[in-house]
Amino acid sequence: SRGMSRRRRAVLHPDLKRARSLLAAAARVVVLTGAGVSAESGVPTFRGPGGLWKQFRPEELATPEAFARDPRLVWEWYGWRRELVAGCRPNPAHLAIARWMRAHSGVTLVTQNVDDLHERAADDPAVALTPLAAPLGDRFLKLHGSLFRSKCTRCAYAAEHREPVDASSADTLPRCPSCGALLRPDVVWFGEMLPPGATQAAFAAAARAQACLVVGTKGAVYPAGGVAHEAQRAGAPLIVVDPGETDYDAMADLKLAGAAGEIVPALLEG
Ligand code: OAD
Repeated sequence: SRGMSRRRRAVLHPDLKRARSLLAAAARVVVLTGAGVSAESGVPTFRGPGGLWKQFRPEELATPEAFARDPRLVWEWYGWRRELVAGCRPNPAHLAIARWMRAHSGVTLVTQNVDDLHERAADDPAVALTPLAAPLGDRFLKLHGSLFRSKCTRCAYAAEHREPVDASSADTLPRCPSCGALLRPDVVWFGEMLPPGATQAAFAAAARAQACLVVGTKGAVYPAGGVAHEAQRAGAPLIVVDPGETDYDAMADLKLAGAAGEIVPALLEG
């Protein structure tokens, strides 16, 4: 079948063996993921083809100014993305990373993704069969927030929020149960600070890492993209899995050019 031959090609990738031995030699590994790890699940990437929504570019909607100008439009975009992601499932890359994290206590996962596919992979009953080497909580760091959390635009309220959003008019937008002000998605917009705790933990893990695995991120957005630079500065070899060109290509020790859903399972479990 086509699936088999794809898988075989990934297994025969010339650099795969080297990448596997680099990872095997590292007690502490930092994994940095971006939109590309979820592409095969059906989540659109930001900078690739199909990364557009209506006539808008993400850079023009994912800003505090855009929300202040037209909260209904921004909520409509986030509502669309929430529904889209809710209809997607973790792919073999998410599942392989989740199993590998359970088996190896030295692996820290840093994601730029606001989808919840890494979390859902970790909760998958098949993944839970892998014995847990150490708690996952402090080894899973989300740097750009979550589509499924909202926070108040006025007070300190923030919580998980999975109910559908009615963005048909300004009057139906979700409001803070505590103070009544508008809620907004609890995601990091352009020009905003990253969550300081997770960001510090990510850079600390990078500074201690003995290998760094980057999956499905162009590396164009900082500071998150700098996690890979920090790991390399600390001496960690850099392995990049991505079918396209990335800003890491020139600095990578190994580039495994291919789809995450094929390469990552072959790399971590093949
Ligand atoms: P980008 O859209 O910039 O990059 C996605 C990467 O995924 C590209 O390098 C693609 O080649 C690659 N890709 C596509 N299909 C793939 C596949 N099947 N397997 C592996 N890789 C694949 O997305 P990010 O780097 O995640 O910020 O973007 C970073 C940040 O910019 C996002 O977190 C978001 C956005 O604005 C916020 O939300 C704050």
